[in-house]
Amino acid sequence: MALRISRIVEALEPSATMAMAAKAKQLKASGKTVYDFSLGEPDFNTPEHICQAAIDAMQAGHTHYTAANGIPELREAIARQFKDTHGLTYGANDVVVSNGAKHSLHNVFTTLCNPGDEVIIPAPYWVSYAELVKLTGAVPVIIETEQANDFRLTPEQFKKAITPKTTMLLVCSPSNPTGSMYSPADLAALADIVLERNLTVVSDEIYERLVYGKHKFATFAGVRPGMQERTIIVNGASKAYAMTGWRIGWTLSPTNIAKAMSDLQSQETSNPSSVSQYAALAAVTGPQQCVDDMLVEFAKRREFVRERIASIPGLSCPEMGGAFYAFINIKEHLGREYAGVRVDNSAQWCLTLLEQQNVAAVMGSAFGAEGYARISFATSMDILKAGFDRIEAFISGK
Ligand SMILES: Cc1ncc(COP(=O)(O)O)c(C=O)c1O
Repeated sequence: MALRISRIVEALEPSATMAMAAKAKQLKASGKTVYDFSLGEPDFNTPEHICQAAIDAMQAGHTHYTAANGIPELREAIARQFKDTHGLTYGANDVVVSNGAKHSLHNVFTTLCNPGDEVIIPAPYWVSYAELVKLTGAVPVIIETEQANDFRLTPEQFKKAITPKTTMLLVCSPSNPTGSMYSPADLAALADIVLERNLTVVSDEIYERLVYGKHKFATFAGVRPGMQERTIIVNGASKAYAMTGWRIGWTLSPTNIAKAMSDLQSQETSNPSSVSQYAALAAVTGPQQCVDDMLVEFAKRREFVRERIASIPGLSCPEMGGAFYAFINIKEHLGREYAGVRVDNSAQWCLTLLEQQNVAAVMGSAFGAEGYARISFATSMDILKAGFDRIEAFISGK
């Protein structure tokens, strides 16, 4: 007899990025060289001083439970770093440290959403948002944005999407999957509507430190007076410090929300790994040169990727202001054959690319945008060069 799965969990979509990465791994295990552009994690190792802090923490006996919302030193350090960077004041009790930013998002939605509430999510969106919202019984309301506007939600689109049930807007800037960014003025225009309509914002700022050239990052909490009181900021150590495996994310929010999320976390997971928290403390309080060094490398790859996309007929992508993704428009190359295989949509395109050229990319449909493929350039220049040669050969049929 098969055991029954709850309706809510049965309705969840599995993570497409992880599924694609698993396929790529399978191919690798069978001895093939795979050009893997599927997963969003820096290819750099965690900087040495951060690893050393973890070793020191273990040896000093920091191997026990901590406060459920994280050690006070780390929460204070996160609040201090935020104040130094953005000028907004938070106390240590406004910070909740969790098992990665994904867990932070889960806490946020579980704490703020009631069944039937509508959460506005601009598409293309990161794969987990809608699923995490659905877990609470709330309803993700997906609003399509345009490549011509670098996939930014416009104030008009936002206004039109609001109903009496709307409680929340979710924004991710710089964006996974598109790499595009909202300017401070863009955010301010959205904030005016948030304030007028008495909504809450969840601002996923995990790519805050990975911003290129002329682009300027602004925290949603700071773009208008009154926004700090209605914004939950999600951030973490994973992307900026190459610490994806350590599982440390955090939120900054009004104190009563932080207290509620901390209570929730105390019941569901207790504290995130004590050793990882000490590593994150070293990351946040230690030298920041490592972040800048990684950014320099990412910037070179972004330039390379931009040039290669522009040089292949029929491909385009939005301006990549931040993060490490290119969201490639492949529409002109759908509805045709590739070495005898008919390809009509982005899922078929990515699977055929993987099968014929051993290049792993993720279908745009997984991010709510058919006709696109996401590649992550958090991988070495050699792999990028070889992978793009193969994408070119795939498209030209050679
Ligand atoms: C936009 C965005 N938010 C959150 C996360 C989750 O980060 P973490 O690994 O800290 O859970 C990711 C990871 O891919 C992401 O791209």
